[in-house]
Amino acid sequence: MTLALDVDVFTLFPHWFDWFRGQRHVANALALGSSLECVDYRAHTPLRAGQVDDTPFGGGAGMVLRVDVVEAALRARYGEDPVTLRARRRVIALTPGGRLLDDGLVEELAAERELTLLCGRYEGFDERILEHFCSDLVSIGRYVLAGGELAAMVVCDAVMRKLPGALGHGESAHEESFSAALDGAPEYPHYTRPAEWRGWTVPDVLLSGHHARIRAWRAEQSRARAEQSGGASLS
Ligand code: ADE
Repeated sequence: MTLALDVDVFTLFPHWFDWFRGQRHVANALALGSSLECVDYRAHTPLRAGQVDDTPFGGGAGMVLRVDVVEAALRARYGEDPVTLRARRRVIALTPGGRLLDDGLVEELAAERELTLLCGRYEGFDERILEHFCSDLVSIGRYVLAGGELAAMVVCDAVMRKLPGALGHGESAHEESFSAALDGAPEYPHYTRPAEWRGWTVPDVLLSGHHARIRAWRAEQSRARAEQSGGASLS
């Protein structure tokens, strides 16, 4: 895990991220030195009238984000050939067929100092963008969104809450669902006051004050949930 992370999001809708920056843990991470900046493909397009996409060769529905447009935006931001950029910086395309995001990948990304996220729209990216400019292709699930922006927010949300101080005092992302601390299993159940509601009680062990027994009970609950959900365990 790194102390602060600089994230650049390439998108056609930079203003969508204004709301996202205001989310508590994101705002905390930004206040502690991380950054989340957007680059608008349209602001850097070499084409006329702000064009960024085109019809697919071979025919078919929808529009495809152009390789020359993405290259221009990356060059404007980093002042170098995107082909060499990806060797020193993770450049991640959000795409439904990519590597599925899970806690392991989130930890991996939270250990970086800098990330670049490329959002596609419509039918997605010209394949040469993925092949030559990107170090990673990431998917948030096997379904198709209208664009990569929500997926980029999901990645940033999950990664930024892992940064030190993002969750605020006393909260931790260490022992939570799918973390290594729980062996990749879902988290154990939580209860709070009232201890009884409509006859629904809290397991006695949690009220016992016996820390070792509580730890053992939680570990057992977490294991049982992993088995129920088809073995989410990392080990
Ligand atoms: N872009 C469109 N659908 C997506 C998905 N499921 N994951 C990541 N990026 C996407």
